[in-house]
Amino acid sequence: MRVGVLTGGGDCPGLNAVIRAVVRKGEVHFGDEFIGFLDGWRGVVEDRTTVLDVERCRGLLPRGGTVLGTSRTNPYKLERGEERAITTLATHELDALVVIGGEDTLGVAHRLVGSGVGIVGVPKTIDNDLSATEVTFGFHTAVQIATDAIDRLHTTAESHDRVIVCEVMGRHAGWIATYAGIAGGAAEILVPEEPFDIDEICRSLVARHAKGRFASIVVVSEGAIPKEGTLQVAAAGVDQFGHPRLGGIATSIAPEIEARTGFETRVTILGHIQRGGTPTAFDRVLATRFGIAAIDTVHHGGFDQMVALRAGEIVRVPLADALARLKTVDPLLLHGVGAAFFA
Ligand code: F6P
Repeated sequence: MRVGVLTGGGDCPGLNAVIRAVVRKGEVHFGDEFIGFLDGWRGVVEDRTTVLDVERCRGLLPRGGTVLGTSRTNPYKLERGEERAITTLATHELDALVVIGGEDTLGVAHRLVGSGVGIVGVPKTIDNDLSATEVTFGFHTAVQIATDAIDRLHTTAESHDRVIVCEVMGRHAGWIATYAGIAGGAAEILVPEEPFDIDEICRSLVARHAKGRFASIVVVSEGAIPKEGTLQVAAAGVDQFGHPRLGGIATSIAPEIEARTGFETRVTILGHIQRGGTPTAFDRVLATRFGIAAIDTVHHGGFDQMVALRAGEIVRVPLADALARLKTVDPLLLHGVGAAFFA
């Protein structure tokens, strides 16, 4: 078969491991030929491709980022974008297209079903907020990076008797904040799912320090939202899918904490460090399993589906299901485990 591959949306450790698994199994086992589209859907719209074979995939397993490049391009926001994308796919006489991406990238894939090419999705998001799969690759790596950072922040915060507000990724869901906050023993974890009250946070920090403890780490998701009318947060435009550009809420929170508690407060924004570099062993294995399942799905003709992890097994789910619901943090995890030790 002739199979196209693309990676779209924010990059994420493990993308290359998926590409490698798809190509190795496809070429060696099924005798497939591959075409790599560059920079996500932009490469399909503009017909920009690269060679993709076993040789090209050597050394990719531990490598972060994506050798195919990625973008947040939405063909439906470009002039004749859909038509140009369909023409490209037809020109290359593809039998199938493996689309590795999050809700936006897979949303475009689902809209292109019926365009003549069979589409199979592989879920990708560092935020881990796709409901159809238990976990996405890249999340584990991001949590490990954030946890390592929080461990380091503890010793400097303790030495100076400070509060440090550590901002992590998480646009709509606070999975990274919750896991890294629990693993790193944060005093407060702020997530997009539950608007926070800055007064409440300050009160609990003061109470914590009054018990003779010192230094607190506050972990905040970039998408965390203050309760209405309690704190002003700056906005920074939107991308082609209409999502606001986030990053920087910690800089709004920290001065408020310092002003209200009198504790010296500093900010660390982890940003793209969480997405860069080599994937953990867990993410390499998950990415490889997803890649193998994706090319198997192509050969079973399981189009308009996405591979997913459920109860430890790789399964296939309709792409539409994958896009239906956001997976948000379980309050029991956040409050039962995240706060249990700090009461
Ligand atoms: O969507 C995943 C994500 O990592 C979000 O957590 C974050 O808001 C966004 O990507 C940032 O992406 P970029 O700065 O690359 O556009």
